[in-house]
This record gives sequence, C-alpha cells and structure tokens, in this order.
Amino acid sequence: MFGLKPRIRVVSSTRIDTDRLVLRCPAAADASQISSLLGNWNVAHWVVRVPFPFRPEHAAAWIARSAEERAVGAGWPFLITLRDGHALMGSMDLSLEGDRSSGALGYWLGEDYWGQGYATEAAVAMIGFAFDILKLKEVTANALPDNLRSIRVLEKAGLRHVGRQVEDTVERGRVDTELFALKRSTWQGP
Ligand SMILES: CC(C)(COP(=O)(O)OP(=O)(O)OC[C@H]1O[C@@H](n2cnc3c(N)ncnc32)[C@H](O)[C@@H]1OP(=O)(O)O)[C@@H](O)C(=O)NCCC(=O)NCCS
Repeated sequence: MFGLKPRIRVVSSTRIDTDRLVLRCPAAADASQISSLLGNWNVAHWVVRVPFPFRPEHAAAWIARSAEERAVGAGWPFLITLRDGHALMGSMDLSLEGDRSSGALGYWLGEDYWGQGYATEAAVAMIGFAFDILKLKEVTANALPDNLRSIRVLEKAGLRHVGRQVEDTVERGRVDTELFALKRSTWQGP
C-alpha cells in the first residue's frame, strides 16, 4: 500500500524530507513528547538501550547526547515527524562504528503510529543519507529475535540477515540479537 521507495530530499545534515515524513534534529522542547511515546513498555522493551520507565530527564539526556554526537560526527540522530501537522512520532538514528565506514540503525515509533509504513520510509531515507551523503560502506542493524515487525522493516529497506550478536541491554541484561546488514556496493538506491 505504501511505496517502499519514497522520494527523499536531504535538505541538510539536520533535515531529510520524504513523501510523508520530515526527519529532523532533536531539540530540548521535544523531551516531554519523546518520554511520553517511549514511556510505553510496548515500545521501550524492544529498544535495547533505553531505561524504563523512560522519564523526561532520560529524554533530555538523550537530546543532549544527540547534539554531542552530531558535533563530532559520531552519530546522526533524527526525530521522525509527519510532514502534515509535524507530529513527532519517533526516532531514527545512525550510529557510526569502528573506523566510521559503517553505521548502525536504531529506531522506534510511538505505538499509535505503527503499521503505516512510516518506519520503512524513514529507514530507506536514512540509508540513502548514509550511502549518498556520508559515503558509508555499510549500514547494519540489530533486532531482538522475536521483533518480527522490526525485522520486516529491515528486510523491506534492503538489509539482509548476516548473523547473531550478543548485546548488553539496560533492562534485560545480555541478550542475543539478530544482525542485519546492507553494503553500499549492493545497495539498489532509494
Ligand atoms: C518496529 C517499528 C519501528 C515498526 O514501525 P512501523 O512503522 O509499524 O513499520 P512498517 O509499517 O514500516 O513495517 C512493519 C512491517 O511489519 C509487519 N508486521 C506487523 N506486525 C507483525 C508481526 N506481528 N509479525 C510479523 N510482521 C509484522 C507489517 O505487516 C509490515 O510489513 P509489510 O509492509 O510487509 O506488511 C515499530 O513497531 C516500533 O517502534 N516498535 C517498537 C520499537 C522497536 O522495535 N524498535 C526497533 C528496535 S530493533
């Protein structure tokens, strides 16, 4: 129903537009909405590195860290918002790894916004940003083995399953995760 290849316009390193979305930089004023969306266990328990309950002060700390990561080029955190009405729905982050030739995707959406193709649209846009603008060689992502929604998003965005990794989580200790990856050399474009 929803196009898998949304038109993407990278307006700047702080804003990416797609058919239905604007990915933009987090700002201090977003803390309360972020904590309200991610303060839902149905969302938070799939996201390995968030504490629960996720309070406004956690959101404020994430926003401050986001600005620091951007300043040194270590990560590219965006908020996912609707083009129409600007509702803040979730986040899409690309965290650079190792020698900075690859980046790991992390994302979540408020539960009310699931099932409309928004995460796939945002992931496709972020992968375009990673390969076309940042010139990364590879984009990776980890998902908990039973997170079938997220795994489907990764497959629709072109990532393929490449193995398993153990990850440290805030709320569940050490867990196995499924590792997905897409190389620029095999990327088909947005
Ligand atoms: C994962 C998440 C971002 C997906 O967002 P979304 O906007 O609903 O995703 P999309 O609509 O783009 O795609 C979801 C896909 O999963 C499918 N799906 C939904 N429920 C499913 C289920 N129980 N089992 C398998 N597939 C499922 C949908 O049908 C859709 O695939 P399709 O287009 O082929 O029909 C959202 O559910 C979320 O925020 N979850 C909690 C946080 C999280 O898991 N973050 C990722 C951590 S790795």
